[in-house]
Amino acid sequence: MFQLHEVVEFGLFFGREGLLFFAADQFGDALLRGGGGLKVGDGFGRGAGRDEVDDFEVHRAGGAHLVFSIQRKLRAVRILGIESSCDETAAAVVEDGSRILSSVVASQIATHAKYGGVVPELASREHLRAIVPVVRLALERADTRLEELGAIAVTQGPGLVGSLLVGLTYAKALALVRRVPLIAVNHIEGHIHAVVSQNPVELPALALVVSGGHTHLYEVGEGFRYRLLGKTRDDAAGEAFDKVAKLLGFSYPGGPVIDMLAPHGNPRAVPFTLAKMKGNTLDFSFSGLKTAVLRWTEAHDLAGEVEARRELLRRNSQPGVEEWLTVTPRETLDMLASFQHTVIRELLRRAVKAAEGMGARSLVISGGVACNSGLRLATAATRLPYPVFFPTPGLSTDNAAMIAAAAFPKFARGEFADSALRAQANLALA
Ligand code: KG4
Ligand code: ZN
Repeated sequence: MFQLHEVVEFGLFFGREGLLFFAADQFGDALLRGGGGLKVGDGFGRGAGRDEVDDFEVHRAGGAHLVFSIQRKLRAVRILGIESSCDETAAAVVEDGSRILSSVVASQIATHAKYGGVVPELASREHLRAIVPVVRLALERADTRLEELGAIAVTQGPGLVGSLLVGLTYAKALALVRRVPLIAVNHIEGHIHAVVSQNPVELPALALVVSGGHTHLYEVGEGFRYRLLGKTRDDAAGEAFDKVAKLLGFSYPGGPVIDMLAPHGNPRAVPFTLAKMKGNTLDFSFSGLKTAVLRWTEAHDLAGEVEARRELLRRNSQPGVEEWLTVTPRETLDMLASFQHTVIRELLRRAVKAAEGMGARSLVISGGVACNSGLRLATAATRLPYPVFFPTPGLSTDNAAMIAAAAFPKFARGEFADSALRAQANLALA
């Protein structure tokens, strides 16, 4: 884990041990060694380092210029994560890639709920309002000053470009002004690290990232190298939950409501068919299932119950399960249970097939839909020869702790971004 550093300042001085060589790069100072001049190939020798430096290696030396790579001791590195890719403004401080010192999430659900989905213009405006207090609160709760940070990590994409820009611009400005290194993180990699950073996940692992924007299968190899094995060709699974809920007059986001009501219905009552994929059979498709639900609603007279649910929502923006049950007849509960059961089967059968195909040593399921209790139960009931890891509920949906955690291996590798960093709405992980 060597990082290449260009010396910006250096000098010689007499210390207790004689003549010492002092060098500083843009990230701080390093006392390199005693003795006179340095030549190419010089270093401490592994593990013989001192202060915050483990080892170094000189690549070029001559005159007043020196290029060396340095292995820093990666102890107690605090990274501030900033996430604003969709409808959550989030900031978190994570130490050494796994210890979450603070995690603040300002949700915009209340703003978007009345439109039944995220309105991009409103999202950017809400991010602008929230970003400064959210970052400040995250630092305060972690009892950390900006100067103490090892790096600032920010979501570069994928996501809504107007939303991404708010977090990215703020992170860039903070990094520049406070001279803290900047690290760009892919949002999907963040979802994977929400699990990997908190559990003993053995690699290679199969990661199923399933949220409102993604339904992707990745092979996660050593050094966090990713290979895309399958993805949705149309809607993401979370999006299917949201659209079905909206169609039936439930609140936004739809996943948690359907999850809450599904145990009250019969999952085998409506025989939805599973998608057959031509080409890559590890790809997903949820548009057929969504259309089947639409046909089902057209074949049933739902006007009365849909209106009753909308009326309930006008009185109470967050009804509990008992209240939903008073306005949701048995047949609709059966359909919801069958819909959720079908989504789970689609997800699990491909995840298991992909994991077998690549010889996975663990299965990681992450993203907002990983909250789904039916999915968790079905996974536990499927006897698999490798352990399965889910994120804790707070780390399932969008948050910044996962962004800071994903940045840690990049920090160790010295993968820093500069001020030319741009938001990328369609940024691919692999
Ligand atoms: O990861 P996330 O917060 O944002 C994206 O990156 O998309 O995921 C949000 C999605 C929404 O579509 C929401 O309906 C879904 O996750 N979701 C759930 C559950 N909780 C959230 N879907 C099914 N069951 C849940 N319990
Ligand atoms: Zn997400």
